[in-house]
Order: sequence, then structure tokens, then C-alpha cells
Amino acid sequence: MDVTGGHPQDESGTDDDSMIRLEGVGKTYADGTTAVHALDLDVARGEIVCLVGPSGCGKSTTLKMINRLIEPTTGRIFLDGKDVTKSDPVALRRGIGYVIQQIGLFPHQKIVTNVMTVPLLYGESKAVARERAHELMELVGLDPATYSDRYPHHLSGGQRQRVGVARALAANPPVLLMDEPFGAVDPVVRGRLQDEFLRLQRELGKTVVLVTHDIDEAVKMGDRVAVFATGGRLAQYDVPAAVLGNPADEFVADFVGSSRGLRRLAVTPIDPDHLEPIGTHKTGDLAGAIDVDSSLEDALAELMRADQPVLGVRRGAEFLGVLTPNGIHSALRQSVNTNSH
Ligand SMILES: Nc1ncnc2c1ncn2[C@@H]1O[C@H](COP(=O)(O)OP(=O)(O)O)[C@@H](O)[C@H]1O
Ligand SMILES: [Mg+2]
Repeated sequence: MDVTGGHPQDESGTDDDSMIRLEGVGKTYADGTTAVHALDLDVARGEIVCLVGPSGCGKSTTLKMINRLIEPTTGRIFLDGKDVTKSDPVALRRGIGYVIQQIGLFPHQKIVTNVMTVPLLYGESKAVARERAHELMELVGLDPATYSDRYPHHLSGGQRQRVGVARALAANPPVLLMDEPFGAVDPVVRGRLQDEFLRLQRELGKTVVLVTHDIDEAVKMGDRVAVFATGGRLAQYDVPAAVLGNPADEFVADFVGSSRGLRRLAVTPIDPDHLEPIGTHKTGDLAGAIDVDSSLEDALAELMRADQPVLGVRRGAEFLGVLTPNGIHSALRQSVNTNSH
């Protein structure tokens, strides 16, 4: 019995910050296809990690091993410090929201009934389940008064996707797995759904693993990005600025090089209003600072070249503030937002 009352610690010593940990996880299907190869991946509590890579590189397989829709052939997976292979799959999936492109709404049930399914499964009364469904609909931007009594075929693709997210959140799971959640909608709607999800995430602070084949989406949505290569090999796992600015190998460079996102970085100016104050950051002399008229791409290149956590920004002889990889990432998110609307 755990008498410490503390956070459960597993035998591998997973620390408190880690919500999902994959250790040497591999999957070889019955026909001999190795979809995932000896994957180590750590997802911290409250972070969004994007798995990105070309089709067939094992992203969906990885996601489905986390909630045990697929059993790994090798390795171990820990969720909140507990080995998932030792937990009951049904109980496990209750703690994990799952959003897929084909949302799987019940076509002959009203939207509210679709969302109520999960609270009802938990044994809530109809009244409580309905109330919860209304809250969730509001959360994802679907006015309950307008949409509750409609049927899935009355809704646009983007609205149906919102219902899917609402339903995945219904059990208030700490972890959300999302497999190409915005893939089925047009680019404008996709941009809007991405923005809404980021806004929602700021309130909810879930631990999210999001699969996409779109590097632009990955760098916009991810706090960290895991770039997969064919055969389920993890090519790079880092913050977006590092993946864009300092690709680990030729494969990542090629994959990122085709990115409109990186091109956006090249045409996005530094925003002097969004610099961080110098504060406690140690900055070099003014000579090492970059001019405010530079692009974010120049700034990123300079950060990587200097191997410094911060970069000074000046206008002429005036010191304006500092940029960090995080600051570049926020600016990139902003620019993707404006460009996608
Ligand atoms: N049930 C299965 N049986 C055999 N091979 C599979 C199965 N599911 C997926 N694969 C193969 O495993 C590889 C990875 O698939 P998947 O994880 O779906 O990739 P992704 O989501 O990155 O497109 C692909 O080569 C795919 O064809
Ligand atoms: Mg897939």
C-alpha cells in the first residue's frame, strides 16, 4: 500500500514532470512491417507535443500504443508514472481523450446527445450529463441553444470537429491524443480550429500528443515537435525553433525545408512590442545584438549560431529588449494565425 500519499513513482524513476514516457517502444505488425522502432519519448505534464512526419512513418501507431488500441512489441509506456501495460485498457482509455479525423459521431443522435454519451457512461444522471454537454459545447464555441438539437449532418466539417473535441473532453481527461484532428477541413477553418484549440489549451493545460503530417501545423501547435522518419525512427525531438533552425540531420532539413512555415519565418519581422525586457537575462554587448529590422529567420539563425538562450535586439544604438526561442515561437504562431485567416 502507498502510505506516502505522494505521487506514484514507477520503478524507472519517472519524475513528476513527465506525464507520458515511452521507453524503447517498438511495433512490428504481424506481416513484418516495423512501424515504430525503439522509440524513446517523454511528454511533460501540460505540454503539447506534435508528432510529425511523412505518411506511414508510424505516428498513428505510436498514438494508439499510448492508449493501448495497439500493443507494442517491445518497450514500455508509462502514463503518469504507471506502466500502461499493467492497467486495465478500459480504465486507461477513460483517462485519455482521443480525437480522430473521422470523428465518429452517431449520425442519428442530436449533437447534445452525442456529447452526453461520455458523462452518461460514467453514470451521471441525464440532467447532469446534459448540463456538462452544454458547458463543453460552449467551451468549444458551439452555442448550445443553437446546436444542441441539430444532427451531425446539419453541421459543417469544422463544427463536427468541435463536437469531437467536446466529446473527447467530456470525461475531463488529463491527456488528449489527437490524430490529424484538423486534417479534414479547409485551410481557413483549419487555422481557426488550431487557434481555438490553443486558446482552449491555455485554459485547460492538458497533456496533448497531436499527430500531423504538416510541419507548419506542428511548429504552430507544438511546445515540442517530434519529427519521425520512415520506419518509425525519431529523427529529432526539440522545441519548434530548434527543429526549424537547427535540423538534426538531412532528413529533417529536407522535411522542414519544404515548409511554408519556415518561409513565413523569413518574411516575418521582429515585433518590437513583443520583446522581453532585458531583466535578468544576461546579454552580450550591443555589438552582438541584432537589428530590429531583421527577420525572425535571421534572429533564429543568430540564436543558433551564438548558441545563446537569448538574443539582444537594438534599433541603432538603442537596446530594445531580448528575443528567446520561445519569443520566436510565439511570433511564428501569431504570423501563422494572421496568414491563415
Ligand atoms: N494493422 C497493420 N498491419 C500491418 N501494417 C500496418 C498496420 N497498420 C499500419 N501499418 C503500417 O505501419 C506503418 C506505419 O503506419 P501508421 O502508424 O499508420 O503511419 P502514419 O500514421 O505515420 O501515417 C505503415 O507502413 C503502415 O502501412
Ligand atoms: Mg496516421
